[in-house]
Amino acid sequence: PRERLLTGDRPTGPLHLGHLVGSLRSRVALQDEHECFVLVADLHALTTHPRKEDIARMSGHVRAIVEDLLAVGIDPARTTIYLQSAVPAVYDLAVLLQMIAPRRRLEGLTTLQSLATAAGLPEDGVTMGLLGYPVLQAADILMARAHVVPVGQDNVEHVDVARELATAFNDLYGDLFPIPRAHVAACPALPGVDRGLGGSAHKMSKSLGNAVALRDGPEQVREKLGTLRLLPSVPVEDQPLLAFARAFLPAEADDLARGITRGTSSEAAVREAIVAAVLAELEPIWARRAEVTADPGRVEEVLVDGTIRAREVAYTTLQSVREAMGLEPAWQELVDITERRVRTRKTPHPA
Ligand code: TRP
Repeated sequence: PRERLLTGDRPTGPLHLGHLVGSLRSRVALQDEHECFVLVADLHALTTHPRKEDIARMSGHVRAIVEDLLAVGIDPARTTIYLQSAVPAVYDLAVLLQMIAPRRRLEGLTTLQSLATAAGLPEDGVTMGLLGYPVLQAADILMARAHVVPVGQDNVEHVDVARELATAFNDLYGDLFPIPRAHVAACPALPGVDRGLGGSAHKMSKSLGNAVALRDGPEQVREKLGTLRLLPSVPVEDQPLLAFARAFLPAEADDLARGITRGTSSEAAVREAIVAAVLAELEPIWARRAEVTADPGRVEEVLVDGTIRAREVAYTTLQSVREAMGLEPAWQELVDITERRVRTRKTPHPA
């Protein structure tokens, strides 16, 4: 049987070029040889944005992400796309995993501190939910019994926690889970296109407002990429422009870098080559998006079908977990005794 792959995104906004090079390309490529699950991680978004207004805003982001996934070529016939919060068996699994998750391990994660800072949370705004973020992520991964987890560098620690929990579970209760491995894209995070700043050290991020969204049209793409500049007193290998060249013109990036160093390639020429390559890659993505949006209800249907399928998978895993831990047998014993008692009762139960 094919190995299973699982990954996901928080619905905080539309996907952008950073996602494309960091994870979407490999998701599309890997769906041929794997049984794939892609979740929209709305519960993870709640760990930093739990207010009712945040939740109300999220449904638009959920739709946008599913549309983006379909646009880049994730095929719902091969990939189960689902809404995390609509699969309650995952919360149940997360509670059981919490029992074997060392508190100090979670408290030591710098990733959670970064999430809190990025969300502008005060010290006392850090909740159990945020501390449990990696445990919930482990529940996502383990509910699908996934082998491969494509993530960005910033999520590798969370996959490590999932590996540790899978190992601890297997040791305590018997082998149930494959030990998942992180699959980090060969392409490192793309820098942002800070307009006016001529490109910056910040990575491309929807919250920093320096992203080229996959839903941007050709004019917006041209305009945003047009702000990329060669930064003074930055070595060529650290230039944002070169990061774009590596991501979109991998075969020519070394030559372009040499050209920049020697002064034989102009900034404008390199930028133009990058713009052309990005537009060429986005072209089929725009075309698929147009097909999706021309079919109202398609996005919702994909998400509902995928979520129903994910519910089955999650429930089956949860039952195996309850079985392995002895919780299900204990419950079954209670039920058996009660049924026997009902059958052998001489007098009818008083009304
Ligand atoms: N934590 C991921 C993010 O930063 C989203 C996510 C949730 C995820 N569950 C996952 C990624 C499981 C990979 C596997 O957006």
